[in-house]
Amino acid sequence: MSAILSLRDVWVEYGDRIVIEKLNLEIADRAFVSVIGPSGAGKSTFLRLILGQEAPTRGSIRLDDVPLKPECGPDRGVVFQRYSVFPHLSALRNTMLGIECAQAPFSARLFGAARRAARDEAAAMLHSVGLADSMHLYPAQMSGGMQQRLAIAQALVKRPRILLLDEPFGALDPGIRADMHTLIKSLWRDYALTIIMVTHDIREAFTLGTRVLALDKRRHDPHAPHRFGATAVYDLPLRNRIDVAADDITASDIATILEARA
Ligand SMILES: Nc1ncnc2c1ncn2[C@@H]1O[C@H](COP(=O)(O)OP(=O)(O)OP(=O)(O)O)[C@@H](O)[C@H]1O
Ligand SMILES: [Mg+2]
Repeated sequence: MSAILSLRDVWVEYGDRIVIEKLNLEIADRAFVSVIGPSGAGKSTFLRLILGQEAPTRGSIRLDDVPLKPECGPDRGVVFQRYSVFPHLSALRNTMLGIECAQAPFSARLFGAARRAARDEAAAMLHSVGLADSMHLYPAQMSGGMQQRLAIAQALVKRPRILLLDEPFGALDPGIRADMHTLIKSLWRDYALTIIMVTHDIREAFTLGTRVLALDKRRHDPHAPHRFGATAVYDLPLRNRIDVAADDITASDIATILEARA
């Protein structure tokens, strides 16, 4: 197994409040890691660490065996639950912005042939996420599901190797979520991605992931509620593979996790 990401003894503290405690983790290239855990456990903090938006208080994070730089790199893309696209730009311009930010971070604007190439790439990516006919719409003219497809296009157009998803489908209706699951699985395969997805939906975690990671506090001290941080309380490899239908495995694995929690 080749690890794309490796976390060693990672702690995150805000003042005397410990949010993440002693997290040790290796994430394999092309894994699909579902991250679950109670609200406030530090799931979004964990994603921000990998994104490079935040540095650990202690410990190290390595990407391809090189220390992760404390900045957002083009090798990592992110999609949030909502509001990650710009309302004043069309779908096409929103997606092109992903390329402009990655390639020209200082001027943030491309011209001439480079701009045409960016436009073609953005259009191709919108096609991949099913928005070929909606390139000229503005976010307010799109449904929630379409906006999330756009946010995914914006993140993927930079061709990141790691895609971070923070409850990306949490605000969508069940039918639309099912469509998004199909989309994300095909993008995971077609773009050879490593995906780390935070979700509150256990079924979604097990349907999509090749591994389910639960972040939670190991100990609870009523006298010092902030003293102990969350860590990986369980970490289950699943049989979900790119070539296996997810429906084959969910029921028994969900039973396993529910038993482990009881
Ligand atoms: N910049 C900060 N300063 C102080 N505390 C913070 C900061 N960022 C996060 N926290 C605290 O860290 C804890 C973990 O927050 P985080 O957003 O990572 O949780 P989460 O697991 O994503 O929760 P949710 O499921 O509700 O999204 C929370 O108690 C939060 O208040
Ligand atoms: Mg969160």
